[in-house]
Amino acid sequence: MSNIASVVVVGSGTMGHGIAQVCAHAGLRVTLTDVSDAVVGKGKASIEKSLAKMQEKGRVTAEQAQATLAAITLSTDPIAASASADLIVEAVPERMELKLDLVKKVSEAAPAHAIVATNTSSLSVTEIAGVAKDPSRVVGLHFFNPVPVMELLEIVRAMQTSDEVIDRARSFATQIAKKPIVVKDAPGFATSRLGVILGCEAIRMLESGVASAEDIDAAMELGYRHPMGPLKLTDLVGLDVRLMILDHLHKELGEQFRPPSLLRQMVRAGRLGRKSGRGFYDYTSANETKK
Ligand SMILES: NC(=O)c1ccc[n+]([C@@H]2O[C@H](COP(=O)([O-])OP(=O)(O)OC[C@H]3O[C@@H](n4cnc5c(N)ncnc54)[C@H](O)[C@@H]3O)[C@@H](O)[C@H]2O)c1
Repeated sequence: MSNIASVVVVGSGTMGHGIAQVCAHAGLRVTLTDVSDAVVGKGKASIEKSLAKMQEKGRVTAEQAQATLAAITLSTDPIAASASADLIVEAVPERMELKLDLVKKVSEAAPAHAIVATNTSSLSVTEIAGVAKDPSRVVGLHFFNPVPVMELLEIVRAMQTSDEVIDRARSFATQIAKKPIVVKDAPGFATSRLGVILGCEAIRMLESGVASAEDIDAAMELGYRHPMGPLKLTDLVGLDVRLMILDHLHKELGEQFRPPSLLRQMVRAGRLGRKSGRGFYDYTSANETKK
């Protein structure tokens, strides 16, 4: 038993709004928080859009969509919301100082039984746990994008995480209809470490003119049966998110993770992928053409 009935999600961006949606869909009470009413309102609008799409496809009924929305409360105060939570999941940008500050504060506000989880893609969960009031209650809950669609939940065990918290995290995964794997806290865990190296190599190939973005993606989609090519996937994840992960893995694991200069330039130019309308592909027109 996870004993989780109420969840606080901190950050309502690409991941946070999806995490809030799957938890609410599973019948949990959710508080979704962000830095301002406007930003958290955008998160809620993304949930409404996603539910409308799911309804069109017959994956949820109108009643289920309504109940999911009704279970979500919006807030700009994650600390106050954490005081009555069973689980707090942070999904703020991939910057260590931000995560440390937040985890310290929410863990001090949370009840003693609450689990404090980070959705980090690559940062040290052990370091994050180190600042918590009770480090044994901190765990990595690494969701995948888009959260309502992707089946995996990668549970990351920090050096301090208790067995009880790992058991509850596994039950929570089942509760929200995800398949859990448990991995040791190591840079990039199992998923990001393998995923970003493929994306990184694809960008280097594009940079050196080996093939077009479409052909590189088609190579992996048609030749290796990947559901989405590595450049399209980078556009979906966000180029800024991938750059932050690569910078970290480069520091921790070495040269093979050095970010390609094309990626850094595109981030500087604001070409962050789907969320900004342009990345390796153009999402501003009906036809998604290459940049
Ligand atoms: N994008 C992906 O595909 C993906 C997949 C798995 C994990 N992750 C991880 O999830 C985390 C979030 O990534 P994202 O892509 O959703 O980022 P994002 O930039 O889309 O969203 C982050 C949100 O956090 C908010 N925020 C910033 N500081 C805050 C604070 N102090 N309190 C409350 N909200 C705050 C921002 O306003 C923003 O809305 C990162 O650690 C990332 O590595 C991302």
